[in-house]
Amino acid sequence: MSTLTADVIVDLQYGDCGKGKVAHHLCKTKKYTHVLRYNGGANAGHTIFHEGKKFITHQIPAGVFFGIKSIVGSGCVLDPTQFFNELRMLEDGGVDTVGKIFIAENAHIITNAHKEEDKREGVRIGTTARGNGPAYREKYGRTGVRAASVPELKPYLINLYEEWFAPDRAEGSKDNVHILCEGAQGFGLDIDWGDYPYVTSSHCTTAGALLNGLPPRAIKDVWGVAKVYETYVGSKKFQPDGDVFNKIGEAGEEYGATTGRRRQTNWMNMQTLERAVRINGVTHIVFSKVDVLRAVGAWAVYDHDQTIEFNNEKDMKDFVASRLETLGIPNDQIYFSESKETI
Ligand code: IMP
Ligand code: MG
Repeated sequence: MSTLTADVIVDLQYGDCGKGKVAHHLCKTKKYTHVLRYNGGANAGHTIFHEGKKFITHQIPAGVFFGIKSIVGSGCVLDPTQFFNELRMLEDGGVDTVGKIFIAENAHIITNAHKEEDKREGVRIGTTARGNGPAYREKYGRTGVRAASVPELKPYLINLYEEWFAPDRAEGSKDNVHILCEGAQGFGLDIDWGDYPYVTSSHCTTAGALLNGLPPRAIKDVWGVAKVYETYVGSKKFQPDGDVFNKIGEAGEEYGATTGRRRQTNWMNMQTLERAVRINGVTHIVFSKVDVLRAVGAWAVYDHDQTIEFNNEKDMKDFVASRLETLGIPNDQIYFSESKETI
């Protein structure tokens, strides 16, 4: 019998924790048949270095850089204009996209009216103004437009049920499906579990991956990504007073890939991390940007509303790892990585 299995990459903070880097690592070391973007729209910004060139994609999943079938899933909203811009950008950059990029026919569409509305109304919570919220509102209000009814998208449409459970893959077939599910945004921006109303309009957790036609049993590894400090972009005050946070922002080059806005910074909050690890069912965790705290020379976290300072890098890593161990994540499934390195 053929099998259907999936690994998930999920962000444990407020986005921008290095999902792209983990996607690269997993695509190189494991054999996926599909990469699935499972939530969000053109609000995401994935920076990818491929063969010496820098690419920023907003809609198209990272799998395309590895020649893996890449799908914009039913949990996403898609801006067709942005989608075609990205296709052109990838082709111009020498990435072969033909026959590699697909859109779930039941994904919803971001229209120009959604973008106009988001530019006016999104200021309140500081959205990316990409039409994300209005597109999801119409989806749930049952007045939305699906990808299937946009003629230009026809060549890219895919039926996820057939893709995951095609009859010719059923009995006796060795044609196994192994999907890498790539989340967008992060736990603190999740519509249900984030800091409402300062959230995005989609499901950024592992549960969001399931909404793309995947049965819970299909999920194997869940790779959580976090930074060793936190960043957030949006209109609430997030960064505490103190020069150290500006230093972290500068050393970490913390500017949004989509809007160029300066991200606010703070210490890592252990309770946010614990909630995200539990709710997402994280099995592996990658912390990025250790070099940034090293450059600033400060090591600290928040734990139960107290700032805990550490004398050195090792003490902080040990503290975090021992906390994760109590949540069932063994040491050899915890990785600490640097800005410019892969894991
Ligand atoms: P929206 O998703 O554009 O509606 O924005 C809602 C909130 O999520 C705002 O605070 C955005 O800055 C934030 N946001 C949306 N997408 C991303 C992302 O990919 N990385 C980081 N923050 C994001
Ligand atoms: Mg991003």
